Amino acid sequence: MTDTSDIRYLTDHYDEKIDAINALGAPLNFVFITDMHNGLGRARIPGGGDREYGLAADHIRSIQYILDRCPGISCVVNGGDIGNDYWPDAAGIRSTYRETMDALYALSVPVHCCIGNHDDATAMAEQEKNNAIAILPEEMHAICMKYNPTPENYYYADLQGTGYRFLFLNSCDRPYRIGENGRFIQDYPLEISNRQAEWIEKEALATEQKILVFSHAPISNVGIFGSIGKGGGYVRSHDDTLNSSRVYTALRECRNVRGQICGHVHYDNLLYRDRMVIVSSLCSFPQEWAPSSPKRVHGTITETAFDVFSIKDDLMVITRFGAGCDRAATFLR
Ligand SMILES: [Fe+2]
Repeated sequence: MTDTSDIRYLTDHYDEKIDAINALGAPLNFVFITDMHNGLGRARIPGGGDREYGLAADHIRSIQYILDRCPGISCVVNGGDIGNDYWPDAAGIRSTYRETMDALYALSVPVHCCIGNHDDATAMAEQEKNNAIAILPEEMHAICMKYNPTPENYYYADLQGTGYRFLFLNSCDRPYRIGENGRFIQDYPLEISNRQAEWIEKEALATEQKILVFSHAPISNVGIFGSIGKGGGYVRSHDDTLNSSRVYTALRECRNVRGQICGHVHYDNLLYRDRMVIVSSLCSFPQEWAPSSPKRVHGTITETAFDVFSIKDDLMVITRFGAGCDRAATFLR
């Protein structure tokens, strides 16, 4: 029987990276973890025994090991897709969400969340199961918006003493309509509503602080390699976020926006566009969907993947824990 409380298979590998983060001494550090898809299946681990495939709670608990040794980390940002929306019943789906959020909220720093396209569980209910559940925005608010001071599922946080505002956008902000069969219709999986776009333009960007923008899906897919077409892999051009051109334009025109950080594509991208740094991070969930995806092995450090972002002047160092590589970028704004 595997001892699921023993996470040394992860943390035994963390010390060297922790030392590097502390040596850099950046004034702003945060964790970004995304696409945990907690409990999406089962797998056999080396050494025997079965375990939940992608036990997000273990990965999250390993973050506390880092927080205990890096006092400069001020928060965790979760990029969405937190649970298993393929589970055949609604209670099971919700239990995987609760497990993820209980682990996140047990961490010693605030946890900010972006909602993912899987989190409402409509697509799987409609396409694969005779099980019409939808976890509606009000319920998602209760599940993952603990640090959001507004009633919406998008907000910003000004990080005291750092000169930075973090925007947490909802790229799955869409209407929920019931179809003729009594089940929820998935109109368009990714959307930023006009209401949210107006809030971005008039309120969220109205600051003298530097801005980092977080969302589940990329605001724009230009130059992004993504996970649709598993095994083949191509840019998700058909998977654009509704209203993305309006929102991207607002971000581009606001000179304080230094970068955009997202998940959704289950792949590491880092590119420069319109003098903004655009980053996507590998899924924490152990999936290899393209030949160039890092190898993922259960019961080893590659079972997880998440980053510590460290910002020091114009330098952004992205330290990877788990599968994949460290990255770095220079801010151009
Ligand atoms: Fe995902």
